[in-house]
Amino acid sequence: MKNIAVLISGSGTNLERIIEGIASNEIPNTKICMVVADRPCYGLERAKKHGIPQALIPRGKTFSENLAHCLPKEVDLIVLAGFLSILPQKFITLYPNKIINIHPSLLPKFGGKGMWGMHVHNAVIAAQESESGATVHYVTAGIDEGDIILQKKVDITTEDTPESLAQKIHEVEYQILPKAISQVLNS
Ligand code: GRF
Repeated sequence: MKNIAVLISGSGTNLERIIEGIASNEIPNTKICMVVADRPCYGLERAKKHGIPQALIPRGKTFSENLAHCLPKEVDLIVLAGFLSILPQKFITLYPNKIINIHPSLLPKFGGKGMWGMHVHNAVIAAQESESGATVHYVTAGIDEGDIILQKKVDITTEDTPESLAQKIHEVEYQILPKAISQVLNS
């Protein structure tokens, strides 16, 4: 049985998809050993509803030490699923190739500092791109720079707004995140 920890900051719909993916065996032999949030958020309620151990560790200088302390030693993968804090290099090196993130653009486009949530979709629409998408990648010290595990495109039409694009991208995130987790755990 593989153990994954999921880090969140928001609504947690991707967390919900991971839970479903485990239940349907899309992510086989896996359990979420812990959900950690860096701020109060609805995702914590989802974890509670499913009886998954959860913790709220307020963001700030000691976040990553507190996190390392609270994670079970035998964790196989840490999934950042809508997690907004930047993890320091010191923490990342404790878990080599064991931290992955989902980002709502076709990295390397529209990644890096300040590119999160609606900022990404606003920038994509402003740049009149004809496509965007979602990327699951390894987490390294450079923001959104680690190797890409899976990526999926969506088309952008002239009717699309940042909000409609966000919705389209969420749909493809729900497809690629469980796949990427299963792929990484079984590689
Ligand atoms: C997703 O769009 C993800 O790509 C980004 O934050 C959002 C999280 O959504 N990093 P949710 O909390 O899983 O609903």
